[in-house]
Amino acid sequence: MNANRIFDRLWNDYTQQNPSVRQVHDLFLIEGETVMNDHIAFRTFDDPRVNIDVLSRIFIEAGYVYKGDYHFEEKHLYAKHFEMDGGPRVFISELLASKFSPYVQQVIRQTVDNIPAELLGSDELIFSGCSWGKPSYEVYEKLRAESEYAAWLYVHGFRANHFTVSVNGLKKYNTLEKVNQLLKDNGFRINDSGGEIKGTPAELLEQSSIRSEMIYVDFIEGSKEIPGCYYEFARRYPDADGNLYSGFIAKSADKIFESTDKVS
Ligand code: NI
Repeated sequence: MNANRIFDRLWNDYTQQNPSVRQVHDLFLIEGETVMNDHIAFRTFDDPRVNIDVLSRIFIEAGYVYKGDYHFEEKHLYAKHFEMDGGPRVFISELLASKFSPYVQQVIRQTVDNIPAELLGSDELIFSGCSWGKPSYEVYEKLRAESEYAAWLYVHGFRANHFTVSVNGLKKYNTLEKVNQLLKDNGFRINDSGGEIKGTPAELLEQSSIRSEMIYVDFIEGSKEIPGCYYEFARRYPDADGNLYSGFIAKSADKIFESTDKVS
C-alpha cells in the first residue's frame, strides 16, 4: 500500500472519530495556511504479535526507514521513529507490559489473543481499531489506575493516536505561541502538563497539543464519555550544520503522552 493511501485512510478514520481535529485543520485553512504533517503517532503493546516491529512493517514496505529510538522510563514505554523522503515521520510507541502488575499483563495478553487471526500480520492491522471486541468500562478504569496509555489503547486500539501539524510549514502562525493563541481564542484546550510548549529552541524541537476531545464509546456497561485522540503541533529548528532537526525529545514526548489523560 503506498504511503499516501495509508495516511488518507488513517486521516479519514481519525477525523471522523474526533471532529475537533477537523475543526482545527479547517481553522488553519480558513487562515490561508497549508497544513503539512510533521509526524503521525501510533500506540501498541510490546507483545511480539503486535509490537513496533509488526506495526512498522506496512510503513517499511511503503519505503520508510528506521531513524531512531526512545525510552520513556517513567511511563514504561519504548518508541521508534521512521522516515521517508516527502512523507511525514512515523512515530510508534509500545507499552512494556512486564513493568506492570500481573493484572495488566493478563488483560494485555487476553486483548491480543482476541485479535482476529486474519488481522495479525496483515496490512489491515494498523486500521483495525479495537478488533478484540467491546471493551469493559471496569477493565478500562482498572488499567487507568496503572497506565492511562494502556487504558487508551485497550479502548481505541490501532489507529492514529495523533497527527501533528508542521509549524515550519505555516506562514502566519509560524511559532507555537501564535498557534496556541489561535487555538485558545477558538475554544480549544491546550495540554499544559509540563507547560503549554514542550521543548526549547536549544533542544531543536518545540511541541504543543490540544487535549483529546471527550467522545462516547460503547462499553459492555453502556455508552461512556472518555478521551479520544488529539492533535499536535511541532516546530523544528536547524542544528549547527544548518539541517533541520528530525528526531524527537523523550522528555517532551513524555508529557505529550498525557494529552489523552482523563482530566476533570
Ligand atoms: Ni507526537
